[in-house]
Amino acid sequence: MQNDLFLRALKCEKVERPPIWVMRQAGRYLPEYRALRGQHSFQELVHTPELAARVTHLPIDLLGFDASILFSDILVVGEVFGYEMHFDDKGMQLLPPTKEVRLPVEQVLHYVPQTIRLLKKTLPVPLIGFCGGPYTVCRYMQQVNAKWLEKVTEATITYLKLQVEAGVDALQIFDSWAGLLPKEEFYSLALPYLQRLVEALKFCGVPIILFCRGASRYIAELAALEPAAIGFDWEMEMAEIRRLVPAHIAVQGNLDPAYLGGPLPALQKAADHLLDSMQGTSGYIFNLGHGILPSASVENVRALVRRVQTAQTR
Ligand code: CP3
Repeated sequence: MQNDLFLRALKCEKVERPPIWVMRQAGRYLPEYRALRGQHSFQELVHTPELAARVTHLPIDLLGFDASILFSDILVVGEVFGYEMHFDDKGMQLLPPTKEVRLPVEQVLHYVPQTIRLLKKTLPVPLIGFCGGPYTVCRYMQQVNAKWLEKVTEATITYLKLQVEAGVDALQIFDSWAGLLPKEEFYSLALPYLQRLVEALKFCGVPIILFCRGASRYIAELAALEPAAIGFDWEMEMAEIRRLVPAHIAVQGNLDPAYLGGPLPALQKAADHLLDSMQGTSGYIFNLGHGILPSASVENVRALVRRVQTAQTR
């Protein structure tokens, strides 16, 4: 790894400029990804280490992001319980097994550490491993109840430890649906399980990023878990967020992904506003507020990366 800007920003160290990566950066907006999908199903790409590693590399090699994220899916953890990802034009579903099973995590998800080991030999930037928040995963399993939240939390902890052992440099927890829950449910269905994940991984020496849509509604609660960073959508201005999040916790986000599918001047204006508003602050990682859309223009993404990478901290 040559470029450690992302890891330094995660530690809230003073950096020359903010690092940039985007959620879902290896995906359908890239013609090279669509070409691979013409030859292989999504499941095949995820389950074959050589292919998953190739897809992870695409946005780094083509666009030069400062961090890479493992190509996989938050729903693979369902395989531990015999659930299977089913992805077609109707979207993503997790199909349940005919009877309840609990398989060994390291056996079922062996292809993930294998992919990570391949990537660590070749990537020029840090590698982010990830998982889903238990609430979000259980929602796709249609099992939002204490019994399943417990089971998924426990399997996820083992799964994250496998990723750390294989060499990931950071972890992001995607609890995409959690922040949109009403307060009572956020406290009972999401927060305690996020806390368990963060606490179990705290001593692994790998920084943890917590991402929820609607995270700005729960800044105090998420900051109290002491992650290295929190990822935000575009509900609140980033500079305001930076003021509210304790200074030792980094912040990540929060450009509206829709700009990448629109006219370039509007994208540049929005990116400049965000960069200007974060000038002189520490612990800022440039990202979108949610995953990049398949309709994003590659030229716009290229222009955005260039803009952020030529930004100077004054
Ligand atoms: O960020 C990355 O590039 C890494 C890979 C990654 C994928 N999914 C690949 C993917 C990551 C980190 C995810 C996370 C994920 N997966 C989340 C949390 C983040 C979020 O977007 O809220 C969720 C909820 C899922 C579940 C999932 N996977 C859904 C609902 C779908 C179908 C809808 C959609 O957005 O495409 C997927 C499919 C999926 N996961 C694709 C990719 C590249 C598209 C597959 C294809 O069309 O080839």
